[in-house]
Amino acid sequence: MSIASSARIVIDLDVPGPAISRHLYGHFAEHLGRCIYEGFYVGEDSDLPNEGGIRLDVVEALRALDIPNLRWPGGCFADEYHWKDGIGPKADRPSMVNTHWGNVEENNHFGTHEFMALCELLGAAPYVNGNVGSGTVREMSEWVEYLTRDGDSPMVRERKANGRDEPWTVPFWGIGNEAWGCGGNMRAEAYADLARQYATYLRDHGDNKLYRIAAGASDDDLAWTEALLKAVSCLGCEKGPKNLFQGISFHYYTVAGTWQNKGSATDFDVDAYYRTIIKAQDIERVIRGHSAVMDAYDPDRKIGLVLDEWGTWWDVEPGTNPGFLYQQNAMRDALVASLHFDVFHRHAERLVMANIAQTVNVLQAMLLTDNDGGVVRTPTYHVFEMNKGHHDAVSVPTHVVEQPAAYELDGKTMDLVSASASVKDGRALVSVSNLDPVAALDVVLDLRGADVREPAGRLLTASKPQSHNTVGGPDAVAPAPLEVEPGPRGLRITLPPHSFATVSLAL
Ligand code: AHR
Repeated sequence: MSIASSARIVIDLDVPGPAISRHLYGHFAEHLGRCIYEGFYVGEDSDLPNEGGIRLDVVEALRALDIPNLRWPGGCFADEYHWKDGIGPKADRPSMVNTHWGNVEENNHFGTHEFMALCELLGAAPYVNGNVGSGTVREMSEWVEYLTRDGDSPMVRERKANGRDEPWTVPFWGIGNEAWGCGGNMRAEAYADLARQYATYLRDHGDNKLYRIAAGASDDDLAWTEALLKAVSCLGCEKGPKNLFQGISFHYYTVAGTWQNKGSATDFDVDAYYRTIIKAQDIERVIRGHSAVMDAYDPDRKIGLVLDEWGTWWDVEPGTNPGFLYQQNAMRDALVASLHFDVFHRHAERLVMANIAQTVNVLQAMLLTDNDGGVVRTPTYHVFEMNKGHHDAVSVPTHVVEQPAAYELDGKTMDLVSASASVKDGRALVSVSNLDPVAALDVVLDLRGADVREPAGRLLTASKPQSHNTVGGPDAVAPAPLEVEPGPRGLRITLPPHSFATVSLAL
């Protein structure tokens, strides 16, 4: 470890910023690799403890995260999923080929009822992503009716025949996915018209109010966002379609290399570490871009920005199916997550939801499982758990006023410190990341606007950024208490290299 550098972070505890929706801590589970099958769902006949086939060890681990919402069934899979194939007796459900992900046979044993049961077990709100690419307006409209309508109707009778009398509550609905690519290779204007058409028939049944989310851009494709906004807004005029969809999504993955050669999750050098953090920090520029376009068309911020896929994307683990996107998860991934959350908190006035890809066994997962009952909590899992106090809290301005000089690589710069803070229920929560892979950081938390008591610090770090957890070593990266001392104008903490910390305070 080289000599410690220092930082001072000024936090205005009495200056309320935007509310941090708990839905910024949302999740995503696709029929992809071992996420649904083996990860969440093992079937009723499994030796592993399960309820209706859903793994209870996985549910128990995830319940500690207070998952606010779960997006399903894709991703790319959503646009070839036909929901009626996934209801009724399992033996009668037709199979299909999952052409996007490994060309494996999908037996449809995990369908609508199983997903809703999973959401109930997790305490998560369902975010169902409908099929535009290869589906029909009628099919999607009937799915909403099947899920959310009460009383008597053709879809309600079918739902009841399948064992569920009461309608479910489904707050979030996606109108296709990545329509510019796997969701149909459409042009923005063509998709925008389709989204209007589909949204028209996605009805609010009874008390269920849908938040309809149009499938948005890749990265910083602001023209796509603008095309969607033009399709629903009527600037300066009285007539025109309004409120057809309530949210617009976009996807942003931290791919540090190229799509052909993304790099290893655990075997990387210091330059690859820096490139990763630089790419992750660029999410702020991308959110600013989409927000600026939205501000022009929707100054009252009635339409929310939804980042419904984000996270690291590495080469698959050696020896695993390339179509299954199974990757390890190291301390570096945890820092990618922690700095994303700082950015999300800063932009919470427009960014209303985010879903990490994906919850179990795929991409930047919370959990890695095996079929013998092994459930590994990844470093990323611990960031979600340590940051839970930000759910539905009020963000407060957090200024990193002194910090080490930004690191430069390939003409790009990277801040070595990331931080954010919020207040809720008489407590404040401060999150700080030391992104420097080699130097420790002495941090002064310069807390203004309120007296603070009972500081409680937690630290997530490891011997190296490559450190990760396995079934044999599940706690190589795990939270530990962090000493918090009185400082010159507040509190002082020392963060080891490549570490993430939270400090909780009574106000
Ligand atoms: O999360 C994996 C895939 O990434 C999703 O299916 C797709 O939407 C995106 O390209």
